[in-house]
Amino acid sequence: MCGIVGYVGEKNAQDFLVSGLKRLEYRGYDSAGIVTLGADGEATLVRAKGKISNLEEKLAGAKRNDTIGIGHTRWATHGEPSERNAHPHQAGPIYLVHNGIIENYKELKKALKDFDFKSETDSEVLAALIESFYGEGKYPLANAVVQALKLVKGTYGIAVVSVLKPDEIVVARSGSPLVIGIGHDETLIASDASALLGHTKQAIYLNDGEVATVTEKSVEIKTLNAEPVSAKVEEIETNLAAIQKGGYEHFLLKEIMEQPDSLTETLRGRMNLEDGVVHLGGPGLSEAELRKIKHLVIVGCGTAYHAGLLAGYYIEKFTPEITVEAVIASEYRYRQAYIPEDSVALIVSQSGETADTLACLREIKKQGVKTIGIVNAIGSTIAREVDGGTYVHVGPEISVASTKAFTSQVIAMVMFGLTIAQAKGVKSGILKPYVSEIARMPEEIRKVLDEVRGEVEKIAGKYTKYEHGIYLGRDVAYPTAMEGALKLKEISYVDANAYAFGELKHGPLALIDDRFFEMALLPDGELYDKAVSNVQEVLARGGHIIAATNVDKFDLPVETVVKITTDIELFAPILMNLVSQLFAYYMTIAKGYDVDQPRNLAKSVTVE
Ligand code: M6R
Repeated sequence: MCGIVGYVGEKNAQDFLVSGLKRLEYRGYDSAGIVTLGADGEATLVRAKGKISNLEEKLAGAKRNDTIGIGHTRWATHGEPSERNAHPHQAGPIYLVHNGIIENYKELKKALKDFDFKSETDSEVLAALIESFYGEGKYPLANAVVQALKLVKGTYGIAVVSVLKPDEIVVARSGSPLVIGIGHDETLIASDASALLGHTKQAIYLNDGEVATVTEKSVEIKTLNAEPVSAKVEEIETNLAAIQKGGYEHFLLKEIMEQPDSLTETLRGRMNLEDGVVHLGGPGLSEAELRKIKHLVIVGCGTAYHAGLLAGYYIEKFTPEITVEAVIASEYRYRQAYIPEDSVALIVSQSGETADTLACLREIKKQGVKTIGIVNAIGSTIAREVDGGTYVHVGPEISVASTKAFTSQVIAMVMFGLTIAQAKGVKSGILKPYVSEIARMPEEIRKVLDEVRGEVEKIAGKYTKYEHGIYLGRDVAYPTAMEGALKLKEISYVDANAYAFGELKHGPLALIDDRFFEMALLPDGELYDKAVSNVQEVLARGGHIIAATNVDKFDLPVETVVKITTDIELFAPILMNLVSQLFAYYMTIAKGYDVDQPRNLAKSVTVE
C-alpha cells in the first residue's frame, strides 16, 4: 500500500527520499513523488507514474541540495494512477503526502469551493483544508494540521511541509502507521521502519491521534487535543540483511527457502522437547483462564485467514470441548456476530496493519473478549492493541505473496492450542506427537525444499498452458489447498480455486476439461482412501492432475506426481504447501511476470 518518507537534517534530502521509497516499493504502488524545500523558499516537486526508476529519470534533471523533503509511493484509491494524482499534493505554500482514505472528502471539497483542485484524490482535499487554516503562515503548521484533522473522517498517516517554514515536517496518524527515526543531526520519517535501516535504529512509533512537529534535532508530539505526549524511543529490531535478497533473484524465492530458519525463530524458547510441553508467554493468560476457554475466533485476511482455518482444524483435533471459527476480517467486522462467553480471539496478521483485521480487533475488544495477536511486524498497530500476543518472528516478509508467515502463523496458533490443551489436562500421549512433529518441522521443511525445488521448477514450465487451476484437499489439506490457489492466482494471474474433495460432486466436477489442471494434495492418513476415490472421479473425466503426496507407494495414474519423502504425518499438508508455493513461483517466472510485486496488489492493506 502507499508509502511515506520524510527527511530533515544536514544531508541531501532527495537521496534519502529516493532510497527510502525504494525500500517501500514492496508494499505495492503505481506512482511516486517527492518534494524538497530550499532555504530560499523554493520547492522542487517531482512526480511520476509507474516505477521509482521513472521518478529517478525525472529527478536527474531536477537535482537539488535541499536538506528537507517528503516523498510518497501511491497505490490508487481515488483517481487513476497518473502524475497529477501522485503525491505530494500542493495547496499554496503547503505540500502533503497521505496514506489512508479521507471518507468525507466530497463534503470537504464542496466547502473548499474556491480551491483550484488539480487531482481527483481525497488527499489533495486534505492539503487544501490544512492550507485554509494556515493563514499564509500566520499560524503554526501543526495547528493548521490539527484543525483540519478534526474535520476529517477516515484514516490517515500524513507528512506535511511548508515553504514558509523549511525546517520542519508535521506528521500525524490515525489508522495508518508512521515511524520517526532519530539520527545524528537528522530526523527521518517513514511509514515502515525498513526505510530507516542503514540510517538509524532509534525510532518513535506514532500512535493514533498524535501529531508531531519534527525538526533536524527535535520531535514534539501532542495529541489532537493539544496534550503533550512523552515520546518513547524504541530500537528497530530488523537488520539490513533481512530486507535484502541475499543472493536470490527474488524476495519470494528467498522467503520460501528461508522457512526452515524462520520457523526455527518462531519456535525458539517456546517448547521443551523433554517434557513435550509448549511454553507461550506472550498471550498472558493464566492456567485458569486457559482452562476456561471454550471457543476461539480466529480473524485474518487472505493468507492469514487460511492459516487460521488450518490451525483451527488442528486445534479441534486435540483440544476437547473447544470450537474454533476462523473468519474473514472484512466480513466479520460487519457481521455483528455474538461471541459466546469464554471465548478468546486470535488476531492474525503478518503486517499487523491490515485495516479490516484491525477493525475486527477493535470491535471484538468492545465486547470484552480477550484478544491475542499472532503478528509478525514488531511494534505494529495490531501488536500494540491486542491484550497479549505471540510474535511469529519470521523477519521482514517483503514479497507481496505471503509464504514464510503462513507456515509460522499456523504453527504458532497450533502451539497456542496446545497450551490450552495442556491447561485442560489433555493427556500428554495425545499432545506429544504434535509437539515432537513441530520441533522437527524446520529440518523437514529444509529437506523437502531441497527434494522438490528442481522438480517443481520443471513441472511449472509445462503447466503454463492451462488457463485454470483447481486445488483439492480434504480435512487439513483443504485450507492448505485454499492457500495454494491464492498463491497461484495472485502472482501468476492464473485463475485458481480450491475445493474440498467432497464438494466436487456438488458442482465443481462440471468444470473438468482441457483448460484446467488440478493440484491434488494427498497426505497419507485416515482420509487418504476417500481422497483417492475423488481423484478417480477427476481422472475419469479426463483431469490433468498433479498429485503432491507423502504416500510411499503412490500408484494412481495421474499426469504428474510430486513425491515428498518425510516421516512427518500430522503436518504433512504444510510440507505440501511448499510445493504449491514453489509451483506458483516458477509458474510466474515461466510466464515472465513480476514475482514480488504482482499487479494491483499491495503488501500491507491499510485501507478498507
Ligand atoms: O499483513 P496481513 O497478514 O494482515 O495480510 C493479510 C493479507 O492481505 C495477505 O495475507 C494477502 O492475502 C497476501 N498477499 C497473500 O499472499
